[in-house]
Amino acid sequence: MTGEREPIGVIGVGWVGLVTAACFAELGHEVIARDIVPEKVEALARGETTIHEPGLSELLARNAERLTFTTDMGQLLERARLLFTCVDTPPTRSGDADLSRVRSVVADLSGGDHVLVMKSTVPAGTGASIRRDRPGLPYVSCPEFLKEGTAVEDFMHPDRVVIGADPGDEGAGDAVARLYEPLGGEIVRTDVASAEMIKLASNAFLATKISFVNEIANVCEEVGADVGEVARGMGLDQRIGPAFLRAGIGYGGSCFPKDVSALKMLAGNSGYHFQLLGAVIEVNELQKRRVVGKLQKHLGSLAGKRVALLGLAFKPDTDDMREASSLVLAARLQGEGATVVAYDPVAVDAAQGLLDGVEFRASALEALEGADAAVLVTEWPEFAALDWRKAGERMTRPLLVDGRNFLDSAALREAGFEYEGIGRAVESSVPAGTAE
Ligand code: UDX
Repeated sequence: MTGEREPIGVIGVGWVGLVTAACFAELGHEVIARDIVPEKVEALARGETTIHEPGLSELLARNAERLTFTTDMGQLLERARLLFTCVDTPPTRSGDADLSRVRSVVADLSGGDHVLVMKSTVPAGTGASIRRDRPGLPYVSCPEFLKEGTAVEDFMHPDRVVIGADPGDEGAGDAVARLYEPLGGEIVRTDVASAEMIKLASNAFLATKISFVNEIANVCEEVGADVGEVARGMGLDQRIGPAFLRAGIGYGGSCFPKDVSALKMLAGNSGYHFQLLGAVIEVNELQKRRVVGKLQKHLGSLAGKRVALLGLAFKPDTDDMREASSLVLAARLQGEGATVVAYDPVAVDAAQGLLDGVEFRASALEALEGADAAVLVTEWPEFAALDWRKAGERMTRPLLVDGRNFLDSAALREAGFEYEGIGRAVESSVPAGTAE
């Protein structure tokens, strides 16, 4: 083992790679981060942050002297032994994970005493197949569990760190474990296949929780119950827990849709039909569309109606539009003949080009001007602080569908709105904030 502070290599400076590089630098390590996109590397080398992630710019600036960004794989291989592979694994047309970028990283490694540390989310079995192809290349699975919007915080204070290494690679696993020890989270040492499954199963379970509570919400609407109350009552059972029981218009983002589908396909390819995940995916697809029915209930046909979308990103504190529910919703509304106008505090640049025919506005109030209805799609804090009386006056019809059960329904009604949430009894006066 070389010195305590041996340089760390990061391959792929997308969202996971950049957070990983910045956080290891913050922990005092020298980091060499490589990406194949020259514009991205140049921007990072100039001190620009390429993604919106709270706290990240500060970390990059504070640790600039410990961070090298390069397109040159040779430089990285010369200086770093532990190679954290953070390239993306997008879904293919078949729903499997596309491993071509992972494969090309493996192909770039020749000789040396490098350790491949896999942070990219890969199907269980990937590590085994790489080890078969490249005997002698130490391989460690170290999946990431960071959430966008709190990624820096999550990295620095992990619930757990999973490190999978197979017999023969224990030393490589130890080296990775030492890097994470200062963070204090529980370190789970296991084999590679189990580490790969922990990642996929965790995301699939969380997605299942969301689809479950969304179906409970839909039933609540039928029976006059309030899903916020139901989730609060359920979540106090320690076996269930309160997290990820917020009903809404479905999960999105770069991980859940992709990972749930990848696990379903992985099971299918191995001959097992994972029925539950099929339902999780279907519920999520339908949930995005239910808003349309709610609007029609109030407005009748949506043809010629003007609908304002408040928030576009798949969740707050990010400009990430990947698999955002807003994409499906906007297209469905347009399909019904509505004009869609939208505002998001940070995601408009990312959204342009993805939302054909949608009119973008620079503020929530401007988006609401003359609208027949509004849909709260992303729970940005500024929407809670909006002057809703003023907003209602600007609208043709003060009708709001709260896709995240984020706003105070009683205050909205007080301000003259027809208000409808997800799984909230239409005339409910349960104060916002009790539902968590
Ligand atoms: C997720 C995992 O949480 C993380 O561990 C993994 O590394 C990457 O995928 P992320 O995609 O950043 O993180 O978002 P997350 O905060 O988990 O939310 C995912 C989606 O679920 C969002 O669209 C969010 O709005 C939705 N969600 C979340 C709900 O609809 N209800 C909830 O109760 C929680």
